[in-house]
Amino acid sequence: MKVSVSTISISELDVDLLIVPITSEDLTDGIEELSDAFGTVIDRARTDVKGETGDSAVLYPESGTAKRIILVGIGESSSVNAERIRNASALGAEAATHVKAETVGIAVPSIDLNSDLTAQALVEGFILGSYRFNQYRTKDNTGEPAQRLVIQTTDQDKQVRRGAERGRIVSEAVCSARDLVNLSPDDKTPILLSKAIEKSGKKHGYDVSVWNKELIEEEGMGGLLAVNRGSQDPPTFSVLEWHPENVRNSRPVVLVGKGVVFDTGGLSLKPTKNSMDSMKSDMAGAAAVVGTMEAIAKLELPLYVIGLIPATDNRPGQTAYVPGDVVKMHSGMTVEVLNTDAEGRMILADALSYASSFYPEIVIELATLTGSAVVALGEIVAATMTNEDDGAQERIDAIVAAGNSSGDRVHPMPMFDEYNEELKSTVADLKNIGGRWGGAITAAKFLEHFVDYPWIHVDIAGPAFLDKARGYHKAGGSGFGVRLLTRFLQDLSEKKR
Ligand code: BES
Ligand code: MN
Ligand code: ZN
Repeated sequence: MKVSVSTISISELDVDLLIVPITSEDLTDGIEELSDAFGTVIDRARTDVKGETGDSAVLYPESGTAKRIILVGIGESSSVNAERIRNASALGAEAATHVKAETVGIAVPSIDLNSDLTAQALVEGFILGSYRFNQYRTKDNTGEPAQRLVIQTTDQDKQVRRGAERGRIVSEAVCSARDLVNLSPDDKTPILLSKAIEKSGKKHGYDVSVWNKELIEEEGMGGLLAVNRGSQDPPTFSVLEWHPENVRNSRPVVLVGKGVVFDTGGLSLKPTKNSMDSMKSDMAGAAAVVGTMEAIAKLELPLYVIGLIPATDNRPGQTAYVPGDVVKMHSGMTVEVLNTDAEGRMILADALSYASSFYPEIVIELATLTGSAVVALGEIVAATMTNEDDGAQERIDAIVAAGNSSGDRVHPMPMFDEYNEELKSTVADLKNIGGRWGGAITAAKFLEHFVDYPWIHVDIAGPAFLDKARGYHKAGGSGFGVRLLTRFLQDLSEKKR
């Protein structure tokens, strides 16, 4: 989508649809600017639209060049935030698709557009709200999104332009992540996924190298190989790298994403209903890492960043790993497998222990890891944990802040030492499951045994995949994590200025 910023007056904006987010005060006080530009329709609309969050009305103006206007409520001005702006913009995007608008404008007469964050939120809401996944439809009945978006502003502020551009880059990266998650599992076997990653690297300008099964064996990634044993398709391990000349960090930031391209549970088979049927999304962590690499490359972020993606499916089969198997991991530790459905931590442990060879400044790992995280927090927010050292609180604060400003929210969970009791094995160094309670935490405690650097774990099992549309997300992959990581990395690069 083409996104631009314009200082043309609202009466002269030549668009098929003009989206106007308005506060509840706007409509009680009346917006002169709008009435002047478009005539009495604005006043008459006040009976139907009050400016409350979520309400809207499409109007056909008497004057001005915009063909249609949609007023979208954003509530009381004192409580307007970025998330409301994204949702309002997405509501406008729905209307745009409905009326088949090719060019769309957004004007916000009442709130101060001077901040780059507002412009970013407007663009994000529009692009994310326009998203369609039509790859498998032979008859496209979900509508074509708009081609051009114009953000109208009253001053020539560079900030607004920068915000709009960031919004475009980041949301297009979110849409790539959504696409990967929404792909049919047989179109994203580990090899096909790694090809898609190579293609993404070429297109966006970051480097990719892919390890095949032989290399994975040589490297001793026992966890990844164990999970892969029941599969017809060999595993891959993709290494993504963004290393521009003007980097501000000498030790890289490493991003790790769980790439289970389909999780049947293995021999500890999942039931289908409400469980296995969404497990094509078990590579959403990987998709988030790919999307983030795309975004930071396009933003030319001055940071050295590496992405690691272990990929396999998890299936039962003649040769599948079984409960009772003891696996020698990449780190040298041994793990007793007691549930083959706890596969994510097996492949992530290898990636995390390999990450150590980069002497990373910090590692952030995203995974659709546990149903327990969904039980605890629902689909709105991801769980986050970190290893307990001196910098722990600072890291949690940073990731929570990045979550709040980006819209990909995360909530902290404890990492008390006592949880380790649950992971004691009678035959090996660790077992791969804890007891019934606190599963999101014991999973994180398991992973902690494989890190020796500052690490942030984000369990995205809840928000990664939605059964029904919500706000600016359609049903299916949400692309969760791209905005979180991009924001976190932007904040980090600012701190190093
Ligand atoms: N991929 C699942 C976790 C999951 C659940 C993701 C729901 C998205 C939505 C993971 O591999 C899994 O099966 N976890 C088990 C772990 C258990 C066997 C210790 C779980 O959460 O039930
Ligand atoms: Mn599983
Ligand atoms: Zn899984």
